Amino acid sequence: MTEVDRDLVEQASSAASRARADYSGFAVGAAALASDGRVFIGANIELSVYGLSMCAERVALFKAYTEGAEDIVALAVAGSTVRPISPCGACRQVIWELAPNARILLANQDGSEVAKHTPADLLPNGFFLDTDRIQD
Ligand code: THU
Repeated sequence: MTEVDRDLVEQASSAASRARADYSGFAVGAAALASDGRVFIGANIELSVYGLSMCAERVALFKAYTEGAEDIVALAVAGSTVRPISPCGACRQVIWELAPNARILLANQDGSEVAKHTPADLLPNGFFLDTDRIQD
């Protein structure tokens, strides 16, 4: 792994300390690297109405986009897991749409195991709204 990717995994691991995971007790951190060099971190935020909770990787990607960073070159996700974390289906769609060309680095808690993926291998045949095909 390159030094850049190793550093991004470390930023994702430390971002997990920002998680608000009182209900699941499962902290996740994420770090999105934009082509201009900026890094946007995220952590999962849980609410007492559980369904309103948000995953770490979506927080990171939404932060990046709302700060004008739309070219994401790498996204690291670190979960409190022994093996590398596996993103949920909703996040796979978001990654596929918002970071289609990014290196996806999935890590375990201490970053000792990192699995490298592409958005398309995490979500084959993702949904894309092709406006040309909407019927009148
Ligand atoms: N979670 C993430 O933030 N990212 C993942 O990739 C998997 C799951 C969060 C959602 C919820 O707050 C907690 O982990 C347990 O599901």
